[in-house]
Amino acid sequence: MKQHLLDYLQRILNAKVYDVAIETALNPANKLSDRLGNQVWLKREDTQPVHSFKLRGAYNKMARLSPAELSRGVVCSSAGNHAQGVALSARRLECEAHIVMPVTTPKLKIDAVLALGGEVILHGDSYSDAYAHAFELQQRHQYVFVHPFDDPDVIAGQGTVGMEILRQLQSPIHAVFVAIGGGGLISGVAAYIKAVRPEIKVIGVQMNDSDAMLQSILANERVELKDVGLFSDGTAVKMVGEETFRMTRELVDDFVKVDSDSVCAAIKDAFEDTRIILEPAGAMGIAGLKQYVAKHALQGENLVAITCGANINFDRLRFVAERADAGGEREALFAVTIPEERGSFKLLCESIGHRNVTEFSYRISDQHEAHVLVGLEIQHRGEVPEISQLLAAQGFAALDLVDDELSKQHLRYMIGGRSPLCENERLYRFEFPERPAALMRFLSSMHPDWNISLFHYRNEGADYGRILVGIQVSDEDLPAFSDFINTLGYRYADETANPVYGQFLR
Ligand SMILES: Cc1ncc(COP(=O)(O)O)c(C=O)c1O
Repeated sequence: MKQHLLDYLQRILNAKVYDVAIETALNPANKLSDRLGNQVWLKREDTQPVHSFKLRGAYNKMARLSPAELSRGVVCSSAGNHAQGVALSARRLECEAHIVMPVTTPKLKIDAVLALGGEVILHGDSYSDAYAHAFELQQRHQYVFVHPFDDPDVIAGQGTVGMEILRQLQSPIHAVFVAIGGGGLISGVAAYIKAVRPEIKVIGVQMNDSDAMLQSILANERVELKDVGLFSDGTAVKMVGEETFRMTRELVDDFVKVDSDSVCAAIKDAFEDTRIILEPAGAMGIAGLKQYVAKHALQGENLVAITCGANINFDRLRFVAERADAGGEREALFAVTIPEERGSFKLLCESIGHRNVTEFSYRISDQHEAHVLVGLEIQHRGEVPEISQLLAAQGFAALDLVDDELSKQHLRYMIGGRSPLCENERLYRFEFPERPAALMRFLSSMHPDWNISLFHYRNEGADYGRILVGIQVSDEDLPAFSDFINTLGYRYADETANPVYGQFLR
């Protein structure tokens, strides 16, 4: 074995982490395993006291400082998880911690550091600005700098995650999937695995818009990215470390790039198996694992993903939930063209069959054709072409929008608008208890004599399904229509006089 691997093995075996960190569980993810045909294991670093593995590296570094160094205090720069690891370690070691965070840091993370007794200094717009300022403070006050990844003691602390995995799972393991930001976690985990069970593959996972490590490996030198995507804030690093680059290049077997939709889907997978809500960086390992399984058609293997963090703002969950299905794994989205004639809307609904509808948006716009935005629940992406063919067989052209950002981000919320064709239109809001096929039941109860000129439904998993419907009814038909609507048995409100209707839709 090479000398530096032996050195790291020794550092990891001697790492001091358990004064503050816990040995986290390695849980089987049963539902995901069934879906993928492999045994998936989750290394639950999200259950650490500060909800990420970062505590291990920070504490291992700080616990090795001399009393004189500790009395000078430590400084670090961080956008979140490292800061909490340093603050908790400082409290335990009774030293001062000065933590520089970008001014854009969410209040939740600032409060977490303050609650642990750290001093927070807000500086600059990005992690790089905060880093430069922390470095300046270190020079000025002789604080000890605690690097978030590029330090052998930090790397060795993170390496204890690898040590625990191999102790916890002694059967053959095909691969371990590790999110990469600056590369500290993967360097430590790979060092231990390659020293002890080198046949196990270590696979690095990067965001497609924040892939400094992969670009550096390809260029054979460290590359500094101009911009990085911030969705996975834990791994948004513009330049990886010198030591972490050297180690990752030597020890990591392969890399996978993932996008934010697949990370959202992975957050959902983890939730379904464990009921924990991971932060994006924390779910990257799972997203990478799924992609790797598909690419290499793996079956029946033991695969481990490190779920490395769970510090997520509650208000981001709306986006995560929305996008978890939008990656085309669980939801298909189509623009369907139907003839603008009575009955064709209902025929479209019938041809969709028993599938669960997630969204239905329609606004009359043309005398001959209508375009309906349709979202349908699916089990896998392969169903998308099947549904397109099914619709085509009924004469409905369907445009697959699963990968269309414009539609997923904007159009689905903006569809509709004014129409010159909505003569005699009346607007109603309906509510019905949400359950499978409830939308179809609603549609089949609509009388074919009245033309539907606007329709919006969105399945939000809420208690009640809420539908907005425009129906064209002439004044003379109004009494008959009122009777009809009252016999439907759905709760409704007439919104025809609502001024917003006049302003935006008519
Ligand atoms: C939750 C989470 N995952 C992954 C990473 C990336 O770790 P590293 O910078 O050691 O590659 C971080 C870094 O802060 C993190 O907080």
